Amino acid sequence: MIIKQVCILGGSGFVGQVLSNRLARDGVRMIIPTRRREPRRDNLILLPDTDLVEADIQDTGQLTRLFEGCDAVINLVGILNEKGRRGEGFRYAHVTLAEKIIDACQAAGVGRLLQMSALNADADNGSSYYLKTKGEAEDLLHSTGTLKVTSFRPSVIFGPGDSFFNRFAGLLKIAPFFFPLACPKARFAPVYVGDVAEVMARTLGDPGSVGRRFELCGPREYTLQELVQYTAHCLGIRRCIVPLNDLLSRMQAAVFDFVPGKPFSTDNYLSTKMPSVCNSCDWSEFAIQPTAVESLVPGYLAGHNWRSRYDDYRRHLE
Ligand SMILES: NC(=O)c1ccc[n+]([C@@H]2O[C@H](COP(=O)([O-])OP(=O)(O)OC[C@H]3O[C@@H](n4cnc5c(N)ncnc54)[C@H](OP(=O)(O)O)[C@@H]3O)[C@@H](O)[C@H]2O)c1
Repeated sequence: MIIKQVCILGGSGFVGQVLSNRLARDGVRMIIPTRRREPRRDNLILLPDTDLVEADIQDTGQLTRLFEGCDAVINLVGILNEKGRRGEGFRYAHVTLAEKIIDACQAAGVGRLLQMSALNADADNGSSYYLKTKGEAEDLLHSTGTLKVTSFRPSVIFGPGDSFFNRFAGLLKIAPFFFPLACPKARFAPVYVGDVAEVMARTLGDPGSVGRRFELCGPREYTLQELVQYTAHCLGIRRCIVPLNDLLSRMQAAVFDFVPGKPFSTDNYLSTKMPSVCNSCDWSEFAIQPTAVESLVPGYLAGHNWRSRYDDYRRHLE
C-alpha cells in the first residue's frame, strides 16, 4: 500500500503531535482537523506538508471533504470523561464518530484506516463506558468488509506532555503532606508515545497488518501506587501516599464526578477494574526495543521541581 496523504482525526492531541512529526519524516502529506485551530497552531504549523484545519468532524459532509484525496485515515479521537454520567458522551465521541468515518471513507474512496483503541476495550465486557464504547467502535470499523483496518490497544501512554505522570506531578505538588490515592492496586504497563507512533507509522502501509489489533505495553508492569511513588521520587518531594480501599476509591470518584474538569470519575474508577497490562505484545515484530519509564520520565518531570524552576528563573534574568 502506498500512502502519500492521510487525514489524522485527533491529530492535534498528545499522540497525534508525535505521530504527525514521525509521518512528516516519511514525507507523508497530512490533513489534521481540529475544533479550535488557534491553541493547536504552535505545535503543528511548522510541519511540512501539513494542513491544520478547523472542522466539525461529526458532520459527515465535512468529514468526506477532509478525506478526499487521502490514501488513509487515522482516528485518534478519544475522550476519558464525558459531560453526563450515562455513557452518551462516550458513545457519541467513539461509536457515532466511527459510523461517520465509515460513511465518509466510502464516499471519499478511502480504503485504509488506523484506529486508536485502548487496552481492554470490549463492547460486551468492558468495565466502563470508555472501554465499552472504544470496543464497540473498534468492532464496527473491523466489520465493514470494505475498509482495511488496523487497531492499536495501548496501556497508559507516557512521554513529555502526557496527562498521566504530569497530572500526578501536579496533584502531588499541591497535596499538603499526604496524598489519598484511589485504586492503588490498579495495574499498568506504560508505553512510550514515541514507540506507539513508530508502530503506527510502520504499519500504515503494511498489508500484513490489515485486520490486526495490536496490544501495546511498555517493558514493565507497575501498580498505580508504585507509579505515583515514583513520580514523587522524580520530583524530589516527600508525600505520604495513602492507599484508599475500594469503597473509599469509589466514593472519591463519585465526588470528583461533580468537580469541573473531572480529575477522576466513576468511569475512570471502573476502567481500572481491568488490569491495563498486555496478554500479547511482541515488539520484536516491529524491531523496536520498547522504552522504559525510568529512562525518560525523570527528564521531563524535572521541569516540575523547584530547582529547575529556579534555574529557569536565573536564566531568564541573565
Ligand atoms: N494517552 C493515553 O494514555 C492513552 C491510552 C490509551 C488509549 N489512548 C487513546 O489514544 C487516543 C489519543 O490519545 P491522546 O492522549 O493523544 O488524547 P488527547 O491529547 O486528548 O487528543 C485527542 C484529540 O482528539 C480530539 N478530540 C477530543 N475529543 C473530541 C471530540 N469530542 N470531537 C472531536 N475531536 C475530539 C482533540 O482535538 P481538538 O481539541 O484539536 O479538536 C484532541 O486533540 C485516544 O483515542 C485515546 O483514547 C490514549
